[in-house]
Amino acid sequence: MSRFAPPVQLLSGAGPATLWHARTGRHVALSADLLAELDRWTPGLLPPPDLAPLARRLDALHLLRESAQPDLRALIPCRSRLVLTLPDVPALWLPDPTVRTPGGHAWRELPLSAGRLAFWRACNGSRSVAQAAALAGLPDADALAFLAELTTPAAQAVQLRDAPLTRRDPSLERLVAPARGGAPRPTDQYGPDGETTLAAYHHAGITDGATHFDDHETTVAHAFGVPHPALGGQRYGERLFDVLDGRGHVRRDALIVEVGPGDGELGQAWLARLASPVDYLRVDASPELLRTQRARMPGTRELLGSATSLPLPDSSVGLLYSNEVIADLTAVPYEPGRPAHGAAAEVEERLRRYRIAPHEGAALYNLGAWQFLEEIARVLAPGGVAWLSEFGGLDELPEETTQLDHPEVSIHFGHLVVIARALGLRARVEPLAECLRFDLGAQQLARHSYEGLRARMRSEGRHLAARAYTPEDLVLPWPVEGLQWVPLSDPGAGPLLTRFVALTVERE
Ligand SMILES: C[S@@+](CC[C@H](N)C(=O)[O-])C[C@H]1O[C@@H](n2cnc3c(N)ncnc32)[C@H](O)[C@@H]1O
Repeated sequence: MSRFAPPVQLLSGAGPATLWHARTGRHVALSADLLAELDRWTPGLLPPPDLAPLARRLDALHLLRESAQPDLRALIPCRSRLVLTLPDVPALWLPDPTVRTPGGHAWRELPLSAGRLAFWRACNGSRSVAQAAALAGLPDADALAFLAELTTPAAQAVQLRDAPLTRRDPSLERLVAPARGGAPRPTDQYGPDGETTLAAYHHAGITDGATHFDDHETTVAHAFGVPHPALGGQRYGERLFDVLDGRGHVRRDALIVEVGPGDGELGQAWLARLASPVDYLRVDASPELLRTQRARMPGTRELLGSATSLPLPDSSVGLLYSNEVIADLTAVPYEPGRPAHGAAAEVEERLRRYRIAPHEGAALYNLGAWQFLEEIARVLAPGGVAWLSEFGGLDELPEETTQLDHPEVSIHFGHLVVIARALGLRARVEPLAECLRFDLGAQQLARHSYEGLRARMRSEGRHLAARAYTPEDLVLPWPVEGLQWVPLSDPGAGPLLTRFVALTVERE
């Protein structure tokens, strides 16, 4: 640390460390190797040639011991896009990345005097501290004291920059947070071969179907479960029905199966579209969610069971659909050349059977999704169709997500297509947004704004559903400034739409 100026803090955890200037909020992430090299640079001497570019960058941010100290009054306060202003309190509503909560990190209220509120509003990314203070009628000393509270690692509300902001800067939309060393996952979410197994989670871990998709996980279908301009004013379920019906896949005279209907919102939209009674069966691994669906989808049948062993006769289904379910199904670590037991042996056997070349080294394989596809091939009647959606890619190694209270694994759709074809099915893969004709340019509330609002509502005992809000349909109990609106290609309240893929398979 002898290398750095006194207000500089070194934030370290798992992963790269961050050098943080506590008076300007400017910061730089550095690998352990670079930090060690910086430590070897003798104070007072010029940096070694290979460190010179980094030294210039650190110097420009006033981070080095020999850097000139910044004239804070002349710097330009640039506000984080994460901070919300509550003018009627008045207060700022700030994330605190140093305090972890089950949903992410804590948020806190920072009360404002009228002068500080005026100063905050005057900070527009191009006025200097002195100019904003003059405009707000706040003494410079008070403005600087206020900024000192906003530029710490626990606030991250402002960066004091040398030049005006000219474009959207990602560092004003991110938080520097200690890496989640992470509470260990519950052991009942993994099998003996390290495979994901969510049977216990679905059976007993989901306890409130009505709020589960707002509070614990969410889906694209849930985010767009209300009429949305991105779908021409339709709900997700309505659009999905219309697309599949338009393609001639919805046969009213044959069994319709929905696997993993969640809270039943999607199916409810289908029932309204179908109008006349049909044979509609819900299959789900969660008794609580089956109960929630029952209330929304009267007149439908239900089965507590698994996608990977459907309790249905061969050739009995006209249409099966399953939205955002297959990432929940077992994914198995497998490495070619290593002795394979249990689930890994099942992967190995199928790789051979379907002539899929394994990846070099250890990787995850979507065994559960493959088994589901085998079941689909068995239960589809001639002319029957199945439609599945999930996050993943055509040629992307499956990856486990870490942000939820249970593991989900992205899907290698290329493998699913190979397997579907080997099973005698016609297969078609499309980006979900294209399949459902989403208008990706439509606006929605940015994820960080949603998280801030949700935390604020919670602090008052209120609930904010995880929807892709538009400026027109977000109704709040109090005024808020600083909400960010982004296109659907950016993260909103739900999962990132552009990460999702739709697979349609058809039995000839
Ligand atoms: C992420 S939610 C998706 C819910 C809904 N389809 C949606 O898009 O909003 C996953 C759903 O699949 C169900 N599920 C998970 N694993 C399952 C399995 N092996 N068999 C049947 N259903 C399963 C869950 O209980 C839940 O209803």
